[in-house]
Amino acid sequence: MANATDLFGFHAGHQKHLDYKERVNRGGYYTPDEIVEIGRALVKNHIKKDSFILDNACGYGSFLSQWGTCTVIGCDSDAVAVQMAQKYHRHVSFFHRNALQRVDRKTFHIPEDANLVIVGNPPYNDRTSLIRRRIKQAAFEIDDDLRCRDLGMSFLLAYNKLRADIVCVLHPLSYIIKKANFQSIKEFMRNYRLMDGRIVSSACFAEASKTTHFPIIIALYKRHAEGMTYEDIKNFVFKIQGGGTLCLNRYEFIDQYIDKYPKKKKCLGKNPLFFWTMRDINALKRNKTFVKKYSHNAVVIDKNKLNYYIYVDVFKRNLSRIPYYFGNCDVMIQNNLYSRYRGYFLSDALQHHPYLKSHLSQYRLPDANKQKINEYFFALLGECHASTYT
Ligand SMILES: C[S@@+](CC[C@H](N)C(=O)[O-])C[C@H]1O[C@@H](n2cnc3c(N)ncnc32)[C@H](O)[C@@H]1O
Repeated sequence: MANATDLFGFHAGHQKHLDYKERVNRGGYYTPDEIVEIGRALVKNHIKKDSFILDNACGYGSFLSQWGTCTVIGCDSDAVAVQMAQKYHRHVSFFHRNALQRVDRKTFHIPEDANLVIVGNPPYNDRTSLIRRRIKQAAFEIDDDLRCRDLGMSFLLAYNKLRADIVCVLHPLSYIIKKANFQSIKEFMRNYRLMDGRIVSSACFAEASKTTHFPIIIALYKRHAEGMTYEDIKNFVFKIQGGGTLCLNRYEFIDQYIDKYPKKKKCLGKNPLFFWTMRDINALKRNKTFVKKYSHNAVVIDKNKLNYYIYVDVFKRNLSRIPYYFGNCDVMIQNNLYSRYRGYFLSDALQHHPYLKSHLSQYRLPDANKQKINEYFFALLGECHASTYT
């Protein structure tokens, strides 16, 4: 069978017609074939002969081929993408429309009692994030009950509204592992269970940001009367493409020990110390740790917790040990172990921030010792420790 490259001189996974600005606004990062194949393998045993398969953000239609006797439907808000997809996928019914407005099965001529399977890779575009804010626009209307800070989350809510039986799509892992995000998509999580999940890096997408890579999950959800709680997500064992697993409940996180965000009422006290607001590990890659001046992004350090802020400062200098799939997690810590290695962390921090000296006078500090820091991180990360780090 001829493939998309032979027929049109383009490859289904490589979109060609959107410029940078449009790509950001439409979330037009098309899926490479190897990733489409992983999704296909996950969902294949859940397809029935008479299932309806829908990709309502289909781009050139990578996810739409080879579904046997099923009825296959594609939809995209981008007219050029739909035209391209139509040329290649003759057996598919296409719609050129906004998939987040007036969402119901009738729109796509899907019978109310049909078995519906959603596949694809909806756009992700955090409409509130500062990154690339200047070029972001609200490109289309979204039904009130689907409004979210991120377009991809709105798509998950739309799948629930369509009462899909199976959903097999890519989305940032942060949608389900960050509690605030999980809350935003609770209508979806109330009705679906995660059956399987493979984590891949955003680096797989040739056109994606070259700077900080984040984890994406190829997720298989099944409609289920009991849905899922955030506790279930913490216990879920995610498989990492290429080997290994991630389970949040294996770790303690730093938010138990420090204040990540500035308090509403600032109380500076005597000789205050400041730390930059902390979000997740990927944000820590970009941001500072200790800062000398107060600002609205500065946390006033509770001195009783100073050794945990120091832990984060040392953690930042060791980020190359941490694989990409922790990118949206808080800083991990093994508190019992840390209490044994704390002196080495404090000495390390002191080398980089000598002004902390007067605040650490109650500790008898050992000489700085890279080997000890090494030992701690190998114990914390186990098999997940990056095999090469700088
Ligand atoms: C990440 S791309 C995925 C394309 C294709 N499914 C693939 O995996 O190669 C997301 C697609 O969603 C489309 N899109 C963005 N907002 C949309 C909306 N509100 N309704 C329908 N499609 C939308 C974009 O035009 C783009 O083609």
